Amino acid sequence: MTATAEQTTDPFAGEEVVLDVDGLVKHFPLKQGIVVKRQIGAVQAVDGVSFQLRRGETLGIVGESGCGKSTLAKLLMRLEEPDAGEVRFRGEDFLALDGEELRRMRRKIQIIFQDPYTSLNPRMSVGDIIGEPFTIHKDVVPKKGIRNRVKELLDVVGLNPDHINRYPHQFSGGQRQRIGIARGLALNPDVIICDEPVSALDVSVQAQVMNLLEDLQDEFGLSYIFIAHDLSVVRHISDRIAVMYLGKLAELGTEHEIYGGPAHPYTQALLSAVPVPDPTLRGKREQIVLKGDPPNPANPPSGCRFRTRCWKATDYCAEVAPELTVRPGISQAAACHYAETNEDVAAMD
Ligand SMILES: Nc1ncnc2c1ncn2[C@@H]1O[C@H](COP(=O)(O)OP(=O)(O)OP(=O)(O)O)[C@@H](O)[C@H]1O
Ligand SMILES: [Mg+2]
Repeated sequence: MTATAEQTTDPFAGEEVVLDVDGLVKHFPLKQGIVVKRQIGAVQAVDGVSFQLRRGETLGIVGESGCGKSTLAKLLMRLEEPDAGEVRFRGEDFLALDGEELRRMRRKIQIIFQDPYTSLNPRMSVGDIIGEPFTIHKDVVPKKGIRNRVKELLDVVGLNPDHINRYPHQFSGGQRQRIGIARGLALNPDVIICDEPVSALDVSVQAQVMNLLEDLQDEFGLSYIFIAHDLSVVRHISDRIAVMYLGKLAELGTEHEIYGGPAHPYTQALLSAVPVPDPTLRGKREQIVLKGDPPNPANPPSGCRFRTRCWKATDYCAEVAPELTVRPGISQAAACHYAETNEDVAAMD
């Protein structure tokens, strides 16, 4: 382990960086007019997001609806092209690739979507759904071997391989999500982006799917980006957590740091809404209720984007946007002029 790893509680500090995301920006043009469309502004869906994902790590990304989580996921998959920024996959410039090179690289980053009901084609059998990636990437499995490989994948995700000819409607929500996971695994990816994979499922089924994802991570050395609305969903599975607000990261830190000593007021507010399982701790944590809804991402506040809902905000926050600066040897960083450091939080206890 390096000296840096020893100083932090970050167990992945010395691990290989699989995804290196730097200054990613995506603004969607807002247009008006019936015949001639004029651009009247832009939705700043993702506005300068940077982070690294290490091998075997799960990075949770949390934030309210519309803060840009799915857009970020699409940029990482190159389903959307960014306006600015860099994505390096194992050191290679992912955004510079095209044609065959891009196709080969695309295998390595897969996505699992939120809704297992709409993300699977109802007219395709499960065998065809899971086997489809092999018809696009022909060199992974020889044509004759596809059926067997699909059966193996069904088994890996805990489904009966004999159900290969069934259709999506013959499966429950949790089983359908397993089909989506099997498809995601087909091309032996290094990274899987899970965009709210359990949000549409019953609570009892959620835990099973989460456990499956964790088992698969151990078995195949996968790195995950796990997107969710709230902090309670990602806690168990995440090694680090990025809190997103209006297209920017508000805070980044290990699971331990974010839950033990959230530094950004927004993280503190999100965390105060998470139920406390330990009854002896109940009541010790103050509930912070945020005022109003997030502002319009087409017209974000000047300076710090969170300031209009923040109880700590001053005039300075309206003028100067705080940066998320990661200090050497310290894994936690918050984009706030008045961020509480871990030492402050420890002193408050
Ligand atoms: N193709 C698009 N064209 C225009 N605006 C878009 C497009 N896709 C997303 N947006 C806008 O970008 C912002 C971020 O959307 P995004 O779907 O990334 O949010 P999200 O965090 O995934 O939300 P949710 O939690 O509801 O899934 C929203 O204001 C959304 O309306
Ligand atoms: Mg989304």
